[in-house]
Amino acid sequence: MIAIKTESKMNKVTIEEIKAKKGKGKITMLTCYDYSFAKALDESCVDIILVGDSLANVVLGLKETNKVSITEMLNHTKAVAKAITRSLVVADMPYISYQKNPKKCLYYAEKFIKAGADAVKIEWFDSCPEVIAKLIKNKIPVMAHVGLTPQTAHLLGGFKVQGKDKESAKRIIRQIKILCSLGVFAIVLECIPYQLSRYITQSIDVPTIGIGAGKFCTGQVLVLYDVLGLYKRITPKFVRAYADFSLQTKKAATKFMEDVKSGQFPAAQESFSINKKEWKKMFAELKQSKDKSKNKRLFA
Ligand code: KIV
Repeated sequence: MIAIKTESKMNKVTIEEIKAKKGKGKITMLTCYDYSFAKALDESCVDIILVGDSLANVVLGLKETNKVSITEMLNHTKAVAKAITRSLVVADMPYISYQKNPKKCLYYAEKFIKAGADAVKIEWFDSCPEVIAKLIKNKIPVMAHVGLTPQTAHLLGGFKVQGKDKESAKRIIRQIKILCSLGVFAIVLECIPYQLSRYITQSIDVPTIGIGAGKFCTGQVLVLYDVLGLYKRITPKFVRAYADFSLQTKKAATKFMEDVKSGQFPAAQESFSINKKEWKKMFAELKQSKDKSKNKRLFA
């Protein structure tokens, strides 16, 4: 039996609280892309909801996350934000809004904040320090993302564990130092060896949130559709599915089809009715107008 935590005081999680968790407790983060799931996640008291650009894969069926558009990410951010009373909402900035166009990063980040995000997430890339400095200077809280950065996976040899050799590990450590000096409030570590994420987590004041980075991070994040067992096209080693929504969906759809075909759906209690008097009156009036109508078959 899983006890679902419901807090009576549903105060909004703040950036300060996330930062303060370092060394005190674990941070939980899940991705989410729509109103209904966001409501359920918010009610289950997850600390952070990330409107991840994994939306490209699990919702839009695209192969690469860097193909998702700004409008798509903004619309889903709005839908998620509408449902939230408690969790901190972080929106992934899509590739096109800051990597393709670093000069426009502030313009687009402000759009995500207006759409209801409390912060934005930025993946490491060459001009990442300039972009992050500009956003933070303009009071936009930034979560950074290093290690395997899916938007530029093609530059990293594909979807591979990063930091497995000394040069690559040193490169990630250099990036972390820069990010900490810029003032990001949290850093996602994706697909790096646990020894490296432990070293990083122990060396900095900023909370780390791991995905495929072992258990020593300050927190953990997973893609919601992986957790629910809904997206099965690719299942990385680090995923743990806590449900089988794909199977449940197929079972529900099959039962619905059976019930429709056998006449068991809809039942009387799932239908509406008109009161007898009204029905009779309507018929009487229809019959009267029968001769005037061109469509005689309906009134026959
Ligand atoms: O978009 C996403 O889902 C992410 C997580 C994997 C951290 O960036």
